[in-house]
Amino acid sequence: MRGLFVLFTLACLATAQHQALIDYLERRLLAIEDRISLWHEQTSRYASELRELKQQMVSQLTNLDKEKETLRMSLDSVGTRVDRVERELDYLETQNGAQPCVDVDDKLIEQQVTLVQEKQKTKYSKLSDCSDMISTIKAMKILKRVGGPKGMWTKDISGTSGKVYILNGTDGDTVHEFSSVQDFTRSLGVALSSELKLPSAWTGTGHVVYNNYVYYIKQAEEIMVVKYDMKSKTVVDSAVFPVQEHVPVYGLSPETALDLAVDEEGLWAIYATRQNERHISLAKVDANSLDIEQMWDTNCPRENAEGAFVICGTLYVVYNSKQPGRSRVQCVFDVNDMVTNEDAPLVYFPKRYGSHSSLKYNPQEQLLYAWDDGYQILYKLIMKKKLEV
Ligand SMILES: *[C@@H]1O[C@H](CO)[C@@H](O)[C@H](O)[C@H]1NC(C)=O
Repeated sequence: MRGLFVLFTLACLATAQHQALIDYLERRLLAIEDRISLWHEQTSRYASELRELKQQMVSQLTNLDKEKETLRMSLDSVGTRVDRVERELDYLETQNGAQPCVDVDDKLIEQQVTLVQEKQKTKYSKLSDCSDMISTIKAMKILKRVGGPKGMWTKDISGTSGKVYILNGTDGDTVHEFSSVQDFTRSLGVALSSELKLPSAWTGTGHVVYNNYVYYIKQAEEIMVVKYDMKSKTVVDSAVFPVQEHVPVYGLSPETALDLAVDEEGLWAIYATRQNERHISLAKVDANSLDIEQMWDTNCPRENAEGAFVICGTLYVVYNSKQPGRSRVQCVFDVNDMVTNEDAPLVYFPKRYGSHSSLKYNPQEQLLYAWDDGYQILYKLIMKKKLEV
């Protein structure tokens, strides 16, 4: 009986201790929960403050730009007025009739008009309505495996034909043309294609098909861009790319001396020279005349680069990542200075076989046509607006 009583007391004691422990743990949990929610509040407040600050900065920068422009315009008009007063004084001095003065004035006005037009032109090219940048890669589709480890495939960009072209290998002269992507995927090898023999062999994988023309790269002592008309089956133009001592543009693809790209604004050339050996350079090319319109040295290294493409005037360079089977955009260069490396998107290419030997952007479809170790892959891109915070 006594033994039972002791056991009962011990049990009570144990339960009481147990209860105290549970109470203690509950209090601790509550305290931790409080702190977590406080922390949550603080972070979200901090994030929204940061966002506000960013927005303020952006709008202040825009205002500053506007003010600069008005200041320049008023300076211009002051200059014109001083000119006019001087001329009027001349006129009063010579008393030489009104006609010449009117002429001068007209000329001045003409000058002003052309000045304004020029300004509008530079303004337009700077602030063209194309302001997309990549947000992310939404999907990837492996269409086929045809040809060797390196090559280039693309749709005719800005053409309405929907035709697909294969330039297999880093040298060759035979283009395979498929009447559609469907034909390409269901064809056994290249059986359903028609062959198009170019007048000379290409080098590398930097070619594009744009508006029914093949622009291909030919390399001897110099780099040539050849523009071949597929309708008339003739070379309509060719130009030596005007740089001395070029080096392969991407560290990981020694065969590609020059990479052509098409975006919403036309034709671009991505290249590298001995003078700026560690970095990639960019040029805007007139697709009609093959003239170079402007050139930029970017801060994007060549080392470990496997390819690049241009979207709305922004160069995206893709690098081989240390993680196996992945590569990513790791450097951007915007000719309009609206996107910097800090706000560059983290774009990973989901899965790879080897290394991309070509990446061709199609602005109408917002697709990348990639050649990866003989696989033809499509990447679907999601865009956002530049300057979005
Ligand atoms: C593609 O090129 C490779 C060499 O790079 C060659 O072995 C292969 O036969 C070519 N394939 C086709 C379909 O032309």
